[in-house]
Amino acid sequence: MSADDQKKSAAMRAVEMVEPGMRLGLGTGSTAAYFVKLLGERVKAGLSVSGVPTSDATRKLAEQCGIPLTTLDEVTELDVTFDGADEVDGDLRLIKGGGGALLREKIVAMASDRVVIMADESKLVEQLGAFKLPIEVVPFGLGATREMIEVLSSDAGCEGEISLRSTSDGKPFVTDNGNYILDCDFGRIPDPEELEDSYRFIPGVVECGLFIDLCDIAIIGGEDGLQIIEAQKDDDEDMA
Ligand code: 5RP
Repeated sequence: MSADDQKKSAAMRAVEMVEPGMRLGLGTGSTAAYFVKLLGERVKAGLSVSGVPTSDATRKLAEQCGIPLTTLDEVTELDVTFDGADEVDGDLRLIKGGGGALLREKIVAMASDRVVIMADESKLVEQLGAFKLPIEVVPFGLGATREMIEVLSSDAGCEGEISLRSTSDGKPFVTDNGNYILDCDFGRIPDPEELEDSYRFIPGVVECGLFIDLCDIAIIGGEDGLQIIEAQKDDDEDMA
């Protein structure tokens, strides 16, 4: 089974969790796109839901699929967000932002009662960090911000090249929020909580792609079928 098929089968399982009337967060990336298309089919068949997209790309796709959309100004709390991830560890800590949508993804995830992550099995890792950690930064003061990220990351045990994400024509990649992305090639992140905390001291950092204590359920597609991992939380309900 290809990685794409695994993503699709995770999305197929996830879309079954959607119930009438739910307010949904709609993630970004190829796995989330499978989910949005499948959700669109259910909407065409009569399901009534509303969604908050996490990127302009997802908003366009959701519109094409006929999914009613809303905003976090109209609806400040969501029932469930369905999104993909670049890495997922055994404690359901994530690296996200490969598609550059990490800020809106984190805002939408924080506003949601539940977060369901869909992924292929290559995303499941023992330790976060092989995937370059994306950090969204404001363009002003980029050099100084990069240097502070280097110093505070090193204090948290993370060292490696920090590169400005660029587009295929060599220009800086600009997020939907008008910011830049720095991709940090740490290889391994020994203490994700400490690292995330340390970035809060840097004024030019908008958000980093570490998602900690946000994911409730991970649906992982694999060669041997689906694996469903639930976070151990006191108030957990069995959603899967
Ligand atoms: C976008 C993301 C995506 O969820 C992540 O990059 C996974 O993408 P894909 O489903 O295409 O593998 O965080 O910012």
